[in-house]
Amino acid sequence: MIVRTPASDALFIADEDHRVVHAISLPAEVKPKRADFTAPGAPAQVVVVGNRLLVTVRQIGQGGGALLVLDRSGLDLKEAARIDLPVDAWGVSVTPDDKIALVTSAWSHQLSAIDLATSKVLWSVDTAREPRGIAVLPGADGASGYRAYVSHLVGSDVTRVDFGASGAPTLKRVELPAAPLLSPANTKLPASLGYSVVASPRGDRAYFPRVALGALGPSDWFGVGGVDVLSTDHDVPRAPRRSARATAHFADLVSKEMEQQSGRWLDGANPVMSARVALSQPRATVYRRKSNTLLVVDEGRNDLVELDALAMAPNLVSARTYGLSKKEDQVLHLPEHGAAPQGVALSEDEDEAYVFCRATYDVMIIKLSPGDGYYSVPPPIVVGLGVEQDKLHAGRALFYSATVGDVSGGLACAGCHPEGRDDGHTWHEVSFKNGDHKFTNFIAGTDLSSFSSRWGDIEMEGTGGVGYARQTPIIAGRLKAAGPYGWHGESATLEARLLAGFGLHRWEGGTDNKSMMGMYARELLPFVREGLTPPPRVERALTDEEQKGRALFESPTTLCATCHVPASEYTDRNVAPLKAFPARAGFSEDPVKGFKTPSLLHVGGSPPYLHDGRFDTLEGLIEYNQDRMGKTAQLSPDERKALIAFLRTL
Ligand code: HEC
Ligand code: HEC
Repeated sequence: MIVRTPASDALFIADEDHRVVHAISLPAEVKPKRADFTAPGAPAQVVVVGNRLLVTVRQIGQGGGALLVLDRSGLDLKEAARIDLPVDAWGVSVTPDDKIALVTSAWSHQLSAIDLATSKVLWSVDTAREPRGIAVLPGADGASGYRAYVSHLVGSDVTRVDFGASGAPTLKRVELPAAPLLSPANTKLPASLGYSVVASPRGDRAYFPRVALGALGPSDWFGVGGVDVLSTDHDVPRAPRRSARATAHFADLVSKEMEQQSGRWLDGANPVMSARVALSQPRATVYRRKSNTLLVVDEGRNDLVELDALAMAPNLVSARTYGLSKKEDQVLHLPEHGAAPQGVALSEDEDEAYVFCRATYDVMIIKLSPGDGYYSVPPPIVVGLGVEQDKLHAGRALFYSATVGDVSGGLACAGCHPEGRDDGHTWHEVSFKNGDHKFTNFIAGTDLSSFSSRWGDIEMEGTGGVGYARQTPIIAGRLKAAGPYGWHGESATLEARLLAGFGLHRWEGGTDNKSMMGMYARELLPFVREGLTPPPRVERALTDEEQKGRALFESPTTLCATCHVPASEYTDRNVAPLKAFPARAGFSEDPVKGFKTPSLLHVGGSPPYLHDGRFDTLEGLIEYNQDRMGKTAQLSPDERKALIAFLRTL
């Protein structure tokens, strides 16, 4: 999202919210000059190749995505080429010889290669859901060609791609368990927020910052944000899995230590803090060669965290945290600068980091510590981007912030609804009793041992598993209605659902501060309705198969459209008691059987399905539906295919 030019004379920043590429002259200590380039759509990422910039644009009009090639003169940019790509073009990276650019298209799960000499697309291939970051390396063992690793926003597996200057690429799914050293015994945890990946300078390791959902640590209600390291020689994880006993003991030690150290302080004169860290919402990363460290920006905590890149689990060893946010307003206690950091770049001497902050629209310049231990470093310098704050400002900051205690217990809205989409996870909604104190909240996993060791005797409602299943819904573009909200339709209005959420998204339920919670809900409400961009949809005529599917969807036999009403986001917002499946393994039987008809907008891209995430594919959902929801038992295989093809267009 932010790059420095090789000559260190400028920074360029992709600003999706304003559809602008901002330019700032360096050095920024001396009154920086600014210029803006208006992009034809939301620009997502930017890289520099010689005197040119490559910028991904998520969608142009109602069409596909693009890679823009921009000629640069000083701070001015001019479009030299526009390369059409699958919609939602997002991540971009260039081969070490600057010949080929790779681009991920997130929503359409494609990876494309572009020949930069001819501006031609060499290939586009399908990967898994939500590919995001890319790290490109030379071919293994001096072989010709290249290797690349791709991170995914959802799920713990990553993608490896081998390709040459011509010919088709080879793709491979690589298993990379999330935080295996902090995983409950014999458990492979799911991951989320895999926005980025970087390689070590030697190319022997690839680093994937993300959240391990259900990992053990001080915020174990949701898990642990950290960095998973892959050895690239044989694509094996650096961190081993632990045995049952060792994991429990080890995790306990680590979590105690992290707790002791998490008494966080921020001092304008010395924002450096030495601690073992759990990141909350890792977003972007760079490798700092001179110290062999990783610099990860944490969008939720407004921190730049420096981690040991040589460790097998970098977030488990001593690290340095540079606080970015400055000054809070007196009413909402939101930072005036440095909120929601999403991009990071380094100065040439690697002594400074430049961090783009999306909620306050500024760049924070941080003097980095020269070595181990405590150093007094000056407070960050703030460079504004010259954009006016709009009326959604406070709601935007709250959406990303994991530090406003009345709203979030360490994981913000953006932690589970990244970009207003979803984490692909099915959460456990659990009611607890701790003496007289009762509360209901979400937890990511089923391992309760570390809760009870730190919270005394906790009793849990429900039998046969841990809590009720609640799959995260997409919210962007789906919140127009007055209500009701929630899987059971239990919140009459959106405001009521937001307030209920403040209690669910944290350990120990909501706070008592009702008046602040009310203020926060009223700020968040317009932002989640208007400030989030729905996943892109390409405007085009339906194919014959899709039309056949639409006719089936709307037919009085299948009945789909009676509940999934097309005119109101494909839902009637009613609670329909469907014939229930038995509870999924790991979850309790939900005594309330009626579920709110979910909107089917963007349903093709948001597996798993149903409130309990029981189906990984639409094919599975239709196959096992029979006549449970509408009527599908009578459909021929071709009709089923057509119905699904239509669902994917919504
Ligand atoms: C820990 C993960 C998590 C966090 C954090 C989180 N959500 Fe959710 N959200 C969910 C899940 C799971 C559901 C479905 C539960 C339900 O509706 O019963 C949900 C449901 C919702 C709904 C209802 C959607 C509908 O169609 O009924 C809204 C609105 C919502 N979230 C907004 C937010 C906002 C705003 C925040 C930040 C204050 C937030 N969420 C934080 C996981 C999360
Ligand atoms: C009686 C009302 C009703 C009818 C008719 C109906 N649905 Fe549903 N649909 C629901 C409800 C309620 C759910 C959520 C159920 C759950 O989570 O257990 C749902 C869930 C879904 C989902 C999963 C969405 C997600 O994000 O998890 C899909 C896909 C779907 N319906 C498609 C269809 C199709 C196709 C038809 C026609 C064959 C159909 N529905 C008919 C009420 C209905």
